[in-house]
Amino acid sequence: MHRSVLLDETIENLNIREDGIYIDCTLGYGGHGEAILKRIKRGWLFAFDKDIDAIKFSNERLSKISNNFELINTSFSLLKDEMYQRNIDKVDGIIFDLGVSSPQIDVVERGFSYMNDYRLDMRMDKNQSLDAHYVVNNYSYEKLIDIFFNYGEERYSKNIAKKICDYRDKKSIETTLELVKIINKSIPKESKDTVKRIFQAIRIEVNNELNEIERAIEDSINMLKTHGRLCVITFHSLEDKIVKKIFKKYSEVNKIVKGLPEIPDEYKPIIKIIDRIYPSKEELSNNSRSKSSTLRIIERL
Ligand SMILES: C[S@@+](CC[C@H](N)C(=O)[O-])C[C@H]1O[C@@H](n2cnc3c(N)ncnc32)[C@H](O)[C@@H]1O
Repeated sequence: MHRSVLLDETIENLNIREDGIYIDCTLGYGGHGEAILKRIKRGWLFAFDKDIDAIKFSNERLSKISNNFELINTSFSLLKDEMYQRNIDKVDGIIFDLGVSSPQIDVVERGFSYMNDYRLDMRMDKNQSLDAHYVVNNYSYEKLIDIFFNYGEERYSKNIAKKICDYRDKKSIETTLELVKIINKSIPKESKDTVKRIFQAIRIEVNNELNEIERAIEDSINMLKTHGRLCVITFHSLEDKIVKKIFKKYSEVNKIVKGLPEIPDEYKPIIKIIDRIYPSKEELSNNSRSKSSTLRIIERL
């Protein structure tokens, strides 16, 4: 079962209004979504997830609370278009709880886990064609280095990419544990951390994670009403850097006009930074998933 990370801190900082409109961009197994729905007696919750299993599970979970919600089985990068189709241009609050859910990792057949053997997959959206099997067996040596280095921050990226290419010259790489063995043979000493970083890199590539986040966070800021809040939970430094950079961009006076006696409206900050919160010691000891998570909160001016 998935245990929601930084749940109380997110809900408290969302400043939920009973009649507000909220968007949960990463519904997953509905922990945050449920907590929002319980607090909006006359409001509405839209929730996105590109994983149909998460949508089905959460539909049942949320239906027990109320009917004031709509679940949208697509990527949150389409947030603006999806809301536009529903005649919604401004909302009271938006949350992102990025990355994968525990069931996605734990269900062996999803091919995310480096602990169990299954065909390499790692797709959040089971309808998309790009999967981990394709990445590992078809990407060039240079492209593999690029993703291992940039998405996994792995120093043995070159060695690992080379071993993968040598191996697949003889036979295709079919399963998660086959890949784990190749990774471990490419480095001086077997390392779970290296395996974890390479799996993370492939997962980010398969699901186009970082590009989708950038677009969706910008759109979210533009969709907030005045005093509306955006809460974003990230799980690794690559995600957090993107969020931090966008928040900085919109919370500071644009460099171009700094020092002018009067700042034109379109260059003024449109958000203020509210807080950055890490999990408590208690949460860290009760939920290992919360490790390295960060919650960033902004408010629309
Ligand atoms: C960490 S889980 C969310 C857990 C949820 N907050 C809870 O309390 O149960 C992240 C979810 O976001 C989904 N997801 C990740 N990237 C997505 C994207 N670009 N568009 C839509 N859903 C996405 C994943 O499929 C996963 O179910």
